[in-house]
Amino acid sequence: MLLPDSKTELVRRGNKVVYDLGDKIVKVFNETKPVSDVFNEALNLARINECGIRSPKALEVSQLENANGWALVTEKVPGTTLAEKMTAEPQRFGEYLEMFVDLQIEIHGYTSPLLNRQRDKFARMIDSLDQLNATTRYNLQERLDGMTKEFKVCHGDFNPSNVIVGDDGQLYVCDWAHATQGSPAADVATTYLLFALNSKDQAEAYLELYCDRADMPMQVVRQWTSIVAASELARKRNVNDEFLKNWIDVVDYQ
Ligand SMILES: Nc1ncnc2c1ncn2[C@@H]1O[C@H](COP(=O)(O)OP(=O)(O)OP(=O)(O)O)[C@@H](O)[C@H]1O
Ligand SMILES: [Mg+2]
Repeated sequence: MLLPDSKTELVRRGNKVVYDLGDKIVKVFNETKPVSDVFNEALNLARINECGIRSPKALEVSQLENANGWALVTEKVPGTTLAEKMTAEPQRFGEYLEMFVDLQIEIHGYTSPLLNRQRDKFARMIDSLDQLNATTRYNLQERLDGMTKEFKVCHGDFNPSNVIVGDDGQLYVCDWAHATQGSPAADVATTYLLFALNSKDQAEAYLELYCDRADMPMQVVRQWTSIVAASELARKRNVNDEFLKNWIDVVDYQ
């Protein structure tokens, strides 16, 4: 595809730039991004579209003609993200958090039997961790083995910047790059860590609300936290490593 001149840059991060093309959104990855990851994100999105979760439609995966790298094109959902709303109206944080939690619980009610398996992904990521010794990796794998097997749709990066309050009043979820089928509690542990990076208070408020509304024991989320922190560490973003390692120390060595 040709990137048009008339585009607005929305986000620029590590290996990608997200542009608004008016009626479409294009995520442009540089040449360091494995092309299989771009197709995987598109396939995840197509599967999520098909299972009925409100999400932008996947339209195209294409090599760029006037630059290096690959692009993922999706429909644009006109609206505002929940993150923007939470920042603009902090006094309404509680109200937005309720919408956010109810939406995540709704997603956890879906299944999509062909999505990648969360357990396989965690096992692979823990195995690849060169920052942890073999004993700690073994402990984490054992803990993962001991967790109940579930097959619910998990977003894998569910945070308020990936929820769009559409101009039609409906909520939509974007950014399905990390989606898997697995345990909702692991997905909750991920969201908890994402909140905790910025605010421990918000993280605790989120966790309490989710567990209360979904009737989920908090202890189960806590059991997942070390596994999730380890797999985040394996992404090698090299930010927040100390924060993540502190969560991995939660592993019980007995
Ligand atoms: N289909 C869409 N419609 C409207 N806005 C979108 C759409 N897709 C993305 N956006 C906006 O662009 C922002 C960045 O997109 P996205 O979340 O997919 O990328 P990212 O967070 O950089 O990805 P990743 O989490 O994989 O690193 C979103 O937070 C949202 O504001
Ligand atoms: Mg995002």
